[in-house]
Amino acid sequence: MTIKSTYDLCLFSADQPFVTINDLFRLLQQKYGDIYRFRGTFRWVVVVSNPDLANEVLTKRVKYPFRPEVEIVKVFGIRNNIEEGLGTLQGEAWWHLRKPAQDHMLKPTAVQLYIPLIEQVAEDFVATLRGVPVIEDCLKTLVSVSTECVGMLCFNRRLGCLDGQSIVNMEDLNTIFTSTAEAGRFFKPYKYFRTPFYKRFEKAVQNLHSITDKEIEGALRRLRDGTNQGVDGDTSEPNLLLSMLSDGRLNKEKINVLITNLFGGGIDSTSNTLAFLWHELAVNADKQENIYQEIVTTVGNGDLNKESLSKMSYVKACLKESMRKNFPINVGSIRIFDNDCFVSGYHIPKKTPILIASNNISKDARFHKHPDQFIPERFLRRENTTDAEVKHTHPFAYLPFGFGPRSCIGQRFAETEILVLTIKLIQNFRISLPPGSDRHLESVTRTFTAPARKVTLHLTRRTGT
Ligand code: HEM
Repeated sequence: MTIKSTYDLCLFSADQPFVTINDLFRLLQQKYGDIYRFRGTFRWVVVVSNPDLANEVLTKRVKYPFRPEVEIVKVFGIRNNIEEGLGTLQGEAWWHLRKPAQDHMLKPTAVQLYIPLIEQVAEDFVATLRGVPVIEDCLKTLVSVSTECVGMLCFNRRLGCLDGQSIVNMEDLNTIFTSTAEAGRFFKPYKYFRTPFYKRFEKAVQNLHSITDKEIEGALRRLRDGTNQGVDGDTSEPNLLLSMLSDGRLNKEKINVLITNLFGGGIDSTSNTLAFLWHELAVNADKQENIYQEIVTTVGNGDLNKESLSKMSYVKACLKESMRKNFPINVGSIRIFDNDCFVSGYHIPKKTPILIASNNISKDARFHKHPDQFIPERFLRRENTTDAEVKHTHPFAYLPFGFGPRSCIGQRFAETEILVLTIKLIQNFRISLPPGSDRHLESVTRTFTAPARKVTLHLTRRTGT
């Protein structure tokens, strides 16, 4: 059976009242059902809008799942003679880089070792807030904090982002994160010419590369000198670079590419997710209070460790619910198969991109009741009749990190970072919006979904901290 439900987007047509690509996909889903063809530029894309179909696509047995690359990143690599990384490599070459990296990064025990390091960053961050009753621009602040955290993962040293001595230019980061979304639009002149837009992007990425090159050199030198076996010379501490070097499967150049990928991938993603989560907690004071009570009963004013973190299911539910409601990526995962395949009995010709509309699925009332409300309880495992109606039940109805071998390699690190920072903030402060602010926060699409406006948070010091 071939797909008959077909939508051909006419660029200049005014017949669709949609505003965003997700609005358009919602309209098409209502018109054609959970699977249809869509032609946006010059090729057909199959869109699926249902968790069962997402399951069917993402669990197809393929050795090397193919995700289309971000074109501007590929163009940059070719023009600058820089080896391809995880985001753009495909096939065996991708797996050659991915396998050793995930062996070290997706093991829960490996990431747990980072808890005290992230906690140290979190405590220093909280210290900067004492006596300051406000976080003026939440996202801007969180970019610095996330850079500091991912710097610990990648280079095993504090970068100084919290005290204004960042080696990373925040403007460069902003250019990179806003450009990758813009570069995905219909017309791509930068593929043929070095347009001013491309030049700005290129300069920013070159700057980032020169930082990571220098940092990796420094970290390698410290390892050679024996001055940084682990963190501060302690070998029992985590050290991704050291683990990758002693693993022996990747040479120095490949490790360099990988670490640069992780550093680049780990900032915008977590900072935006944190900004949405903290906004939700400021709006939903009762949920924030539940987190605080969980902190009080689990750690009080003390330090976190893997045991205490594993018991804190309410704050984890808040993170999940915030990512469900403020979905971190624009649409969802894309897969392309080398051979013809079938989805829900429909024949899909080989090389046709299949797009999982995860952003819409996560907000679809068929799969999460009252989707516009912030209800962390739907992600709690407890059995109770109040939660039953809103319960999250289908694992493929919530996929902020993608799924399968090509899913996010930084997932565990990101979750740990977000949880530790949030716990430390709520342990010390009650957060709220400035009086009169809009409780609703729209999002805009960059590489990751970002708040559409500046988020300001008021802080009230909790007694006893
Ligand atoms: C809340 C934070 C994050 C979210 C929501 C997120 C989301 C995603 C998603 C949706 C994908 C594509 C999955 C797919 O195609 O199925 C991805 C891939 C990736 N992510 Fe993340 N990510 C986050 C944090 C991070 C962090 C902290 C790092 C690095 C430390 C990172 C590094 C990467 C890399 C390198 C890939 C490409 C993996 C590959 O193709 O093999 N991400 N991420």
